[in-house]
Amino acid sequence: MINKRNIYGESLKWRTQIIFLIYGGYLTISNQITIGDFVVVYQFASRFLAVTNDCYTLSTDLVEGMVHVERLRTIDKYQKEQSGNIMLLNPIKKIQFKNVFFRYHPQGAFVLDDLNLDIDAGKKIALVGRSGSGKSSIAKILTKLETVESGQILIDQIPINNINNNSLRNNIAIASQDPHIFPESIKTNILMGASKTEEKVQKTIQRVCISDLIDNQSQGLEKLVGDRGVTLSGGQKHRLAIARALIRDSEILILDESTSALDFETERKIQMNIDNYRKGKTTIIIAHRLSTVMNSDMICFMKNGRIVASGTHDELMSDFNEYRELVEKEIID
Ligand SMILES: Nc1ncnc2c1ncn2[C@@H]1O[C@H](COP(=O)(O)OP(=O)(O)O)[C@@H](O)[C@H]1O
Ligand SMILES: [Mg+2]
Repeated sequence: MINKRNIYGESLKWRTQIIFLIYGGYLTISNQITIGDFVVVYQFASRFLAVTNDCYTLSTDLVEGMVHVERLRTIDKYQKEQSGNIMLLNPIKKIQFKNVFFRYHPQGAFVLDDLNLDIDAGKKIALVGRSGSGKSSIAKILTKLETVESGQILIDQIPINNINNNSLRNNIAIASQDPHIFPESIKTNILMGASKTEEKVQKTIQRVCISDLIDNQSQGLEKLVGDRGVTLSGGQKHRLAIARALIRDSEILILDESTSALDFETERKIQMNIDNYRKGKTTIIIAHRLSTVMNSDMICFMKNGRIVASGTHDELMSDFNEYRELVEKEIID
């Protein structure tokens, strides 16, 4: 945002001033106006341009502010969602989706269409399938960001509507496909209110291979990022979001296409670090590329809002043509 403002606002101001100087200079030299007239008009025009530029800056500030307000409204909506009063006990053992129907609009087509899925906790689970098959929607309904129309979602046999919202949120951390980075320091963006030691933050940063963002900065973790500071690439935003979710050490971690914007080597390295760190805990990885999730305990293949096949990589390779085709296509690509 700040770059756009500099490019459009400042350059427009300077270009107009230069045109004014050249044209005014020409009129003065050719005796069509006096120097006095020129100075008065030039000063007036400069003030006018400065005010116009301030208005432009204010309008971009407002737009920028509204993005954060919108995000906070989503969190507020979540807080106000009907909360149950059962607190989850750790360790969580099972997550179940039973005949779940979900759609975004009351008249629209079902995005999750009789979804059935059992997840044994403590495992690495991968959700794969073509874009639009409903993978992210599963993450949204499990975290109660969206509400299902019918069917049940149970955690250790407790319907999620009966679970206390704070308890649910404390037990599930998600790095979403489209992470929101606040115009704050790297550290604030990772911690988001959690209380963790400096050492823990540093270790998390190493695990998500984001040292590149920090090493070059003199202010280290205090460096501002987001629209007012360093503009982050898609991959950097994702890595920051993984750090934010990972540091919480939640019972359940969901990574929604979080490493898809990274190069293969970095993606593999981060996945390996997460695998080692989260051993024995539940990690649900939504993946586009299959190569990094082949070692999952269970791979669920989604199609049109349903799980159409599940098993280990070897099982799916031998029993499920569509999975084999996708793997082969990836190898060729
Ligand atoms: N906020 C939304 N409003 C309306 N439709 C949506 C929304 N988010 C996703 N969809 C639609 O729901 C379907 C499933 O989307 P999604 O769960 O994001 O799939 P995936 O993560 O597998 O790509 C798609 O057809 C998508 O267009
Ligand atoms: Mg998605």
